[in-house]
Amino acid sequence: MDYGGYPAGYLRRIRALFPDKTRTLHLFSGQVDLSAFPGDTVDINSDLKPTYIDDAQTLTRVPLEQYDLVLADPPYSIEDADHYQTTMIKRNVVMRALQRLPLGAHVVWLDQVLPMYRKDAFEQEAAIGMWKSTNHRFRGITIFKRRDAAVSTNVAAATRRRADRNQELDLVGD
Ligand SMILES: C[S@@+](CC[C@H](N)C(=O)[O-])C[C@H]1O[C@@H](n2cnc3c(N)ncnc32)[C@H](O)[C@@H]1O
Repeated sequence: MDYGGYPAGYLRRIRALFPDKTRTLHLFSGQVDLSAFPGDTVDINSDLKPTYIDDAQTLTRVPLEQYDLVLADPPYSIEDADHYQTTMIKRNVVMRALQRLPLGAHVVWLDQVLPMYRKDAFEQEAAIGMWKSTNHRFRGITIFKRRDAAVSTNVAAATRRRADRNQELDLVGD
């Protein structure tokens, strides 16, 4: 495995979690094994010949609305970024760019840090710890789902209305 590549079996396992997805984007794609998980790729390094040469913090060249799954494997630290000869990313800025994904799309983010994200744009559906072997850093997989803020606002409003109604009934019962 090359420096920073996905651990063996990772792509196969993640693919099994999402059998219904139709278009996948590998973000920070490096030398990802597309035979294990087909999809389009984005990397800032043109030598790697990604589908899109772009900065994950803006993704201006990527038609994000066409993808229903994003696999992200960012550099985890300044030292890792140095290795790739890039500057360290701002995770929250990447998550902001990913708000252009369609509702229901998932983001599978492998990292040592939970990125900051807007709770009205993404729902955290799962967190999975990953221990590769002794003397290696722990990593975590966070699975986000692009959510509809309007729906969550409606659910919150309905919950409030129900609580108000119950309170009124309690008062009537007094
Ligand atoms: C951890 S590696 C990904 C390894 C990949 N999962 C694999 O299996 O080979 C990180 C990759 O992110 C790319 N990268 C770093 N900063 C970036 C940025 N701002 N936008 C897009 N790609 C970036 C690097 O060029 C590098 O290829």
